Amino acid sequence: MHNFVRYKFYREHKYLSFVLNDLERLVAKTNFQISEELEKVADQFKAAVELLKGHAEYADNCLHVLLKQKDSKVYEHIEKDHGLLDATINNLQLLLDQVNFAVAATEKIEAGYQFYISYRKFVGDNLIHLHEEETIILPELQRLYSDEELKEVEAKAYAVMSPHELIDMLQVLFLHMNADDKNAFLSDIKECQFEKYAAILPKIKTQIPERELPLITL
Ligand SMILES: [Fe+2]
Repeated sequence: MHNFVRYKFYREHKYLSFVLNDLERLVAKTNFQISEELEKVADQFKAAVELLKGHAEYADNCLHVLLKQKDSKVYEHIEKDHGLLDATINNLQLLLDQVNFAVAATEKIEAGYQFYISYRKFVGDNLIHLHEEETIILPELQRLYSDEELKEVEAKAYAVMSPHELIDMLQVLFLHMNADDKNAFLSDIKECQFEKYAAILPKIKTQIPERELPLITL
């Protein structure tokens, strides 16, 4: 590996982006007159919201706190976005509720369309937000801290996760990642939690395509 490549956060943005885009495609195709279809949208929206909230919490508590400690202010704009997330989500939920409340078929279709365009705009705004995290926050963290110090953030998370939880997390994330990402996750876990790493390896290995195995240091 090149030694000028710095330690990275936000690899899970690939998964977050997938989930939000997948929902956008579902909403685009939904017939809002059919309650089962509306229910499916509501369920996936709820799951996406959980993921988004977890992401914002992790960034504020685990990453921005490192910038605060060094008196860097670049996180303020991003943290403001996180603060607005609840209001944005509530607004989208209200639009979705409108579909439920509508009685006439034409009303349901129109309310569904209003939810669709608002949700799609949110996905666009969120893509810019993710980009800012990776192009503003990440370089600032890399400027202020060594790779060893940055690795500590994930090490704390891996210390409290059970092997089962680690497997669940990696199985979900790995579907959306390349060999380099997988290598980064596995070598982090190997370095700080060797016993857990040894326990999860047989299962995780079966999830990695054979062509990628030579690229991953197991
Ligand atoms: Fe964020």
